[in-house]
Amino acid sequence: MSHGRDHVERVVKLAVYIAKKEGADVEVVKKSAELHDIARDKPNHAIESAKLAREILRREGYDEAFVEKVAHCIEAHSFSSGVEPKTLEAKVLSDADKLDAIGAIGIARAFIFSGENGRSIEETIEHFEEKLLKLKDLLYTKTAKELAKERHEFLVKFYEQIKRELKFYEEI
Ligand code: NI
Repeated sequence: MSHGRDHVERVVKLAVYIAKKEGADVEVVKKSAELHDIARDKPNHAIESAKLAREILRREGYDEAFVEKVAHCIEAHSFSSGVEPKTLEAKVLSDADKLDAIGAIGIARAFIFSGENGRSIEETIEHFEEKLLKLKDLLYTKTAKELAKERHEFLVKFYEQIKRELKFYEEI
């Protein structure tokens, strides 16, 4: 799965790592990372995941201030929700989620997603152009920008190689 348990586990680890480096509230970041994709199957999953997270956290007895901090991170983690991250914690979650979409892991996830959705190699490469290659410019924190360098470079290398291979078939 492209958005399975392993994705969530990596985002939790990475978000906590970035939070510590950036001086963000680790508890808020960790909880929001754990719950950020719980309504992944719904349209506008960031807003829906935030709603569900509020219910879960209230049920678990967290105070309202904490619940709202976590909900904001989740609402703002996806570009498509239209909600801008206003807090450092929200920026950290957004960064961690984006970093999991680039580099070798990002490439692997893009093709798993394509397999899940019947998307061809060419269509996956379009997704690289429309989204993945732009992600490094959407990062907020210094820590994430540093981590993104190697991952972005590898993404570009892979993209250029596969474009060359595809072009070869157009020319023979
Ligand atoms: Ni995610």
